[in-house]
This record gives sequence, structure tokens and C-alpha cells, in this order.
Amino acid sequence: MAETDQAPPPSDQLAALNLTDTVEKHAFSDRVLIRSIVGRPDGGAGLAGQRVRAGGWVKTGREQGKGTFAFLELNDGSSPANLQVIVDAGLAVLSKLVATGTCVVVDGILKVPPEGTRQKIELRVEKVVSLGEVDPAKYPIPKTKLTLEFLRDHLHLRARTNTIAAIARIRNALAFATHSFFQEHNFLYVHTPILTTSDCEGAGEMFQVTTLISESEKLEKELIKNPPPSEVDIEAARQVVSERGEAVKQLKAAKASKSEITASVAELNKAKENLSKLEERSKLKPGIPKKDGKIDYTQDFFARQAFLTVSGQLQVETYACAVSNVYTFGPTFRAEHSHTSRHLAEFWMVEPEIAFADLQDDMNCAEAYVKYMCNWLLDKCLDDMQFMAKSYDKGCIDRLRMVASIPFVRISYTEAVELLEEAVKGGKKFENEVKWGIDLASEHERYLTEVKFQKPVIVYNYPKGIKAFYMRLNDDLKTVAAMDVLVPKVGELIGGSQREERYEVIRERILEVGLPLEPYEWYLDLRRYGTVKHCGFGLGFERMILFATGIENIRDVIPFPRYPGRADL
Ligand code: 4AD
Ligand code: MG
Repeated sequence: MAETDQAPPPSDQLAALNLTDTVEKHAFSDRVLIRSIVGRPDGGAGLAGQRVRAGGWVKTGREQGKGTFAFLELNDGSSPANLQVIVDAGLAVLSKLVATGTCVVVDGILKVPPEGTRQKIELRVEKVVSLGEVDPAKYPIPKTKLTLEFLRDHLHLRARTNTIAAIARIRNALAFATHSFFQEHNFLYVHTPILTTSDCEGAGEMFQVTTLISESEKLEKELIKNPPPSEVDIEAARQVVSERGEAVKQLKAAKASKSEITASVAELNKAKENLSKLEERSKLKPGIPKKDGKIDYTQDFFARQAFLTVSGQLQVETYACAVSNVYTFGPTFRAEHSHTSRHLAEFWMVEPEIAFADLQDDMNCAEAYVKYMCNWLLDKCLDDMQFMAKSYDKGCIDRLRMVASIPFVRISYTEAVELLEEAVKGGKKFENEVKWGIDLASEHERYLTEVKFQKPVIVYNYPKGIKAFYMRLNDDLKTVAAMDVLVPKVGELIGGSQREERYEVIRERILEVGLPLEPYEWYLDLRRYGTVKHCGFGLGFERMILFATGIENIRDVIPFPRYPGRADL
């Protein structure tokens, strides 16, 4: 439309014509994001005069001026900041708007609030477009300040809270950062299977996947409804077959007509079919199918035992040994009975695998990746990080800055044990004994990173006895080229290693740790044919979020936590 066709705008809308400062409607919904108003450097002030439609859930609401208008703090999850909304009594029944959790969509005009208020902008409502009411007496999370533990009992509503929404945005940012980092460094994203028939860590912590149980339950029910034939039934059916056989024989002997014989043969076949069906059904037994006293997995869905993956490493190695730089990022599952604040039964892991690279390269990559994520949050999520600093962990932003800027300490396992032994001599008490050969416990790891060095520490060259079979044996024949990245607040954030690429050595190691060779033949093929020096690591994604945010319990940084005894939704 040509400008001359338009009526001149009313004077109070002149500001809206300042085209440098317009707020864009969301591409796929009919409102603007609250972030695009309040997330601006000027807090939204430059948008005064604009007409917008906003929607969100009321954080807090109150009627003012003896019920003549209401203030609502509206949040749509696009930013930690709320939009202040003012609704006059003539536009809606105010008492229906003010309850926490109410969803409102409103049209209005952005105005600069009177001097002395905290907000830089507020929305004066002209029309309430729609309303999703809440009964405050029944709403499960009406208060603004609820414990994270309480919220775990309301997983379906907890994303409405400031904390869980901020964590969701930080989690999203870290996932984006992960892809960005690996894509920038020419890694290929490979999707490894969730259902697997290989145990990567060999730690016996796999969840089994089977349809044998549900199938056997189904069969049990079916057999009750429709009992299997008895021996008498089968004998009777056999009798019918033999009688009909006899009948056919007699007709043939009597040279009966063709059509008579055909009809009689058809009867006989029917009887045979019935008998074989009965015999088949009589073999059905309730319970899990067994063979030689053991569960018969050949009758399971995949005709063999299957599990949920504990790590995509072994599978992603097949791609590393073909297209060189790869990573996988997906859910992993461990049936550990750990009730700690650092363990989940379902967690997400980022696993790069690099060909033509050794343990040094592995450590360099891990360090660069962690630093990249810290910088990303400082750059893109500062408002959410400030919320975390205010509400949970004063030092979290400084920690990100520190980790992003200083080199990580690198010490061998042997040096780490020496430092711990020194600490014990100096009076430090650990619950777990310290001596060469032990698997470092969380308390040891945290002592090193939080007390001794107060920065990230990479411990490398662990005793082979406490590490997985695939790690490369060092020349001392006692240690393997493993590395763990330990960070303050969390302890172990990353576990990785250079892989054993020598066929004879890895074959020996598989046998040495008591694993059968047969299931690993495909893995051995990678060493048999065109073997290559390679390495990789796994970063526990939730642990990275714990480290970044300072949240204490891992159950609060994954949307739907699974741990012993709990798997809600
Ligand atoms: O050290 P892990 O067991 O290493 C592996 O699984 C290797 N296959 C990785 C590789 O080399 N590709 O696990 C890696 C990381 C740990 O450092 C920890 O951060 C996290 O995964 N992790 C867990 N996070 C939450 N809950 C659990 N139960 C976890 N177990 C491990
Ligand atoms: Mg580990």
C-alpha cells in the first residue's frame, strides 16, 4: 500500500513509526517474544509507543487502585525477565488474571513507566485476547519460591518456575555450543544406537531390553481365557483324523465318484489341520521360554540379548576409523544403584572420537571444548547466569571466566596419588584409603580440583586394573593412556583415553579382563584392517550443567530425571 493511501496516524502512535526500533512478531505465532522487548540493552525503552501482542504465564499478579487495574508480571520463557503488564478493570475480570500460572494473551501499547519504577517498559493492555485460568487453591506450584526437591514431584509443571526455565535455556545453549564447537572443528555428528548388543564399559550396568516378559504375560492371559487343549482333546482330534482317513480309503476302494472322494479328502485335511493346531497350542507353556535351564534369548525380539547403551563409543569408533573426526551426542543409560547428586540412570553424553590423534590431542580437545562452552554461556546466556549467581551460586560466573581463561592443570595418576598421600600426612581425612592402584573416589577428585589446585585438573595414565579394556596400554605395562577431567563443584566431568589400536594387545586385554572375544570380533576388525592411532572422550552433559550453574543436584538439570525408584512421566 502506498503511504499516501494511509490515514495519518494518531499522535500517540507517532513513536511507533520509528522504524529503527520495531519489535518483530515471532515467525510462527501471532505475538512477540517477551525477550525481544525486555531483553534489549535498553530494557525495551526504545520501543515505547509500539503496539504489540504478548502472551505468557503470570508469575505474580496483583489488583491495585481498589480493584481498578491489575499489575501482571508475564513470562513466556524466552528470557528470565518478565514483562510488566497493566490491565484496567473494564477489560477483564481482574481476579481471574492475577493468579500465578494463569496464561494470558494481550494486545497493548508499550509505555515507559513513571519515574522511580524498576521496569524500563510496561505494556498497557487494550484488549485481553485470551485467558487460561488457574484455580489458585488447586494449582500445585502456586508459590514463586519452592524447593527444587519439591518441584521434582511436579515434573510436568516445574518448567514454569524461574529456575527450571533458566536451566532449560542454559542446557539448550550448551547443546548448541557443543554442535557449534565440533562442527567448527570439522567433526561429523554420528548417531549411534540406543539399543545395543555390546557392553562398552564392561561394568555390568546395562539395562536389558526384552519383549520376553510382556510376551509371556500376554500368553499367560491368553491361556487363561483360552486354555490349551488337554490330552483327551488331542486324542479325540486324532480319532477324527483316523476315522476320516478310513472314510477316504473306503470311498477309494469302492471306486466312488471323483467329487465324493474330493469332498472326503477335504474333510480329512480339515481334521489334520485341526489336530496340528491343537498339538501346537498344547506346547504353549506360561512363563519365560527356556532352553537347557537358561532363558532362551533366541525367542527374544532381536533373537539375542539386547540392552540400552551405556556409551556410543564403540560404535562411533567405527566411523572415526573411516571418516576420522566424529562425535556422538545422545542419551546413555546406566543401571547403577547410585543415589548420589552426580549420577542419573539416564544421562546425556557427548563423545568425540579423533583418528590420527593421541592422548595429548585428546586432552587438548577436551580442554578446548570445555573452555568453548564456558565462553558461550558468558556470551549468550549472561542473563540466566546472573540469575544463577543471584539465586544459587555466587561464584558461578567467575568460575566460567576462570575456566575459560586459565590452562588446566595436568598431572599423572601417580602424581595425583602422591599429592593425596601428602594431604593425608598433613591431616586431611578421606573416607576412602589412598594408595597407588585405587580408583580415585569423588572426595579425592574434588580435593584435587577444589582444594589443591582450585581449577580444572586433568589426571592421566591410570592403572590398567581400574580402567576399561579399550584403553591403550602404556610402555610401563602398568598404566593405560586414560585421562579424566576434574572440575570444581562436580569432580569427574570427562572420561577419555587413547584407544588400544594394536590388534594383539587389545585381544590380550579383552581376555585379561575376562570378556568373551566373540562379541568383540567386529571391534577387533577395526584393528585387523587399517588400524589407526585414535582417541576420544565422553563428557557428562548434566555434569557440565551442574558445573556451570552451581545447582547441587543432577536431578534438577535434566527435564525428566531417572534414578533408582523414580521415572515420572
Ligand atoms: O567415564 P565414562 O564412564 O566414560 C565412557 O563412557 C567412555 N566410553 C567415554 C568415551 O571415551 N567415549 O563416562 C563419561 C562421563 C563421565 O566423566 C561423567 O561425566 C558422565 O559421563 N557420567 C555420568 N553422568 C551422570 N550420571 C551417571 N550415572 C554417569 N556416569 C558417567
Ligand atoms: Mg569415568
